[in-house]
Amino acid sequence: MTMDLLNNWLSQLEKINTINDLNNFKSSILGKSGIINNEMKKISTMSDDEKKEFGKNINQLKQTIEQAISNKRAQINATYIENILKQDKIDVTLPCVNSSIGNRHIISTYISRIKDHYTKRGFTVIEGNEVDTDFFNFDALNIPAHHPARQESDTFYIDGYPDTLLRTQTSTAQIHAMLDIGVPIRMISMGKVYRSDNLDITHSPMFHQIECLVVDSNPISIRNMKSEIQKMLAFIFDTNIQNIAMRLRPSYFPFTEPGVEVDCKYKKLDDKIVLSREGDKWMEIAGAGMVHPNVFSACKLPTNLFGFAFGMGLERLIMLKHGINDIRILCEH
Ligand code: DAH
Repeated sequence: MTMDLLNNWLSQLEKINTINDLNNFKSSILGKSGIINNEMKKISTMSDDEKKEFGKNINQLKQTIEQAISNKRAQINATYIENILKQDKIDVTLPCVNSSIGNRHIISTYISRIKDHYTKRGFTVIEGNEVDTDFFNFDALNIPAHHPARQESDTFYIDGYPDTLLRTQTSTAQIHAMLDIGVPIRMISMGKVYRSDNLDITHSPMFHQIECLVVDSNPISIRNMKSEIQKMLAFIFDTNIQNIAMRLRPSYFPFTEPGVEVDCKYKKLDDKIVLSREGDKWMEIAGAGMVHPNVFSACKLPTNLFGFAFGMGLERLIMLKHGINDIRILCEH
């Protein structure tokens, strides 16, 4: 059965010649709800001998198709570059185009506004690394070795460097801050994060997050966290802090104890979201919590410190505020 399946895949692969089709093909086989994961479900009904045989076959199948996909990717990329080099002759003698034409991208605009504002408030801005190691992205954040987020179907690893990846969350910056700054910490960090998602109206394999971390040896409570999140939202949504009605729902993030999801009350005005106490609906807007003692330990800090952190998706906030209903608009313009 596996040979037939493999031959079928290889002949499909033969016909693919764009990266987009290749990614779709890859996720249909190796993705979270792809064929391999579905096949794996059968294992629970097998005898031990059958399990062994099945496991061996499926692993071989997986490795062969992964290799074939990665060869195909290299081939498509090489052809692409070759074509560009053929077509894209640049005339270096042409005069320079007026560089004052055009606008800053809306995401960069928000990032620099937030940066300025928080720098004035005495926060350190941590740039962080888009390419980081699994220590910063997972281990130090108390995310266990078997956690699903670590799988290749969720995370982009760098070929040839098994512990190096494109960060999946700006929470990595918390670890950089704790190791680099020391206590007390008041920091924000903003930037790109990457997840192995297909592009659709609400998902993108690359998006931006805002992260905030405050650590002190003096008591800090969840109320301090709440008010800091309110301040961030009031700034982004350009409103008074009194208009931000927030509720905290218990949730689980390995790097927090307790962890919460933050909802805000809102109303709609001409397709745009306005955060308002008078709103009649709640919307999830951030993940947050008190820093887990294991995170302090991983950063060689005393575990009796106090700290909170929160993170939010920047695209989503901008889309809500400006009535944009498709994330692709922000990638393409
Ligand atoms: N990093 C989380 C995510 O990407 C969001 C988050 C949750 C950040 C809780 C935090 C936090 O700082 O305390 O989903």
